[in-house]
Amino acid sequence: MGASGISRRGLFMAGAVTAAGTVAGTVAGAVETAGASAPPDPSGAAVEPFHGVHQAGVATTPQAYAVFVAFDLKPGTGLEPISRLMRLLTDDARRLAQGRGALADTEPELAVSPARLTVTFGFGPGLFEAAGVESPVRQLPAFETDKLQDRWSGGDLLAQICADDPLTVAHALRMLVKDARAFARVRWTQRGFRRAAHVQPDGSTQRNLMGQLDGTVNPTDLDRAVWLGQGPLRGGTTLVLRRIRMDLESWDELDRTGREFTIGRRLSDGAPLTGTAEHDEPDFGRLNRLGFPVISEYAHIRRARVDDPGARILRRPYNYDDGLARDGTPDSGLLFASYQADVDQQFVPVQRRLDQGDLLNAWVTAIGSAVFAIPPGCGPGGWIGETLLVDGTGEADQNRGHG
Ligand code: HEM
Repeated sequence: MGASGISRRGLFMAGAVTAAGTVAGTVAGAVETAGASAPPDPSGAAVEPFHGVHQAGVATTPQAYAVFVAFDLKPGTGLEPISRLMRLLTDDARRLAQGRGALADTEPELAVSPARLTVTFGFGPGLFEAAGVESPVRQLPAFETDKLQDRWSGGDLLAQICADDPLTVAHALRMLVKDARAFARVRWTQRGFRRAAHVQPDGSTQRNLMGQLDGTVNPTDLDRAVWLGQGPLRGGTTLVLRRIRMDLESWDELDRTGREFTIGRRLSDGAPLTGTAEHDEPDFGRLNRLGFPVISEYAHIRRARVDDPGARILRRPYNYDDGLARDGTPDSGLLFASYQADVDQQFVPVQRRLDQGDLLNAWVTAIGSAVFAIPPGCGPGGWIGETLLVDGTGEADQNRGHG
């Protein structure tokens, strides 16, 4: 024993006390910090209703991630196999949206966090032709500024898969592709994203990769602007999906004033150049001191404007960023998804005005284009497309299977 022993022990005890004090302090600090800014509850369990008069994924508050997958039917796939395919895919979508594995799901654990998953099906003109049913949609007319590529265009059947979690989206995609394989082959997939959930307050407008607030003006009366009230597509709508590449390198060369002039809105808060807040009505009649319109006649919002709110298109765009092209420039842009009751009456006139003279055309180019009829929703006993494919009239009881 002796001094050295006591001293060693004393030192050890002192060290232990100090260490314990330090550790305790750290834990207490951590608890305090966690209490101050506790992370929100996991949102993976959040569910969007699958059943309803309309399909989910149109009026649904946009989720953070999306993949659009288009299929081509295999030759000889007619009405009966298409109906079987849609029964199968509807069942998958219904289960996955509810947080259950798809039938014969090989990774059911990946289904337990639906994270607001929606799967929205669309039928292209080719599907109707194959089924021997008159198509309510056709491809768009040609536009001069388009540089469309086959690899991003067309398709007989679409599944738009959206969720607040990219793993959920990937799993749903895989399940649907597996089950469609016997009937169809994948024509293209396009992945998109918006701000992650909870990054900005609910209801605020997202920004696109050009930095603009994108989605300010949208219709509010969807029964007029989006949903069909009669005819074969009653309860459904139509989707135009355009893949629009942005030339971000040359956009970078434009100064802030030029960028705001191009759109007709401020970059900071999205207010029209004649207003002070995002949702102010633009004053297209206002002139500057030189007598020129404050919002140019060729500004994007002026060319795209539709005065009648009931005739507006519903824009639900996603950004895409597929890394760098071979020449080192960003391969980025917008998956411009537009829903409207009538493509020819609503989408085409706006697109035509943009095609003929929109300042934005110097920096954006449509490289993909597809049009789909979005059938109405269904109930627990029904399947998507039933009213279109079984009776082909849409006049039969729409409540079939609505439980
Ligand atoms: C990459 C391409 C595009 C970009 C970056 C873009 C960006 C924008 C921005 C920043 C606004 C203003 C804020 C808002 O109301 O959302 C806007 C408005 C609008 N855009 Fe686009 N847009 C693009 C393509 C298109 C296309 C292809 C169409 C339709 C054919 C379209 C239709 C509209 C409409 C209808 C408005 C609302 C106009 C109003 O009434 O104020 N846009 N867009």
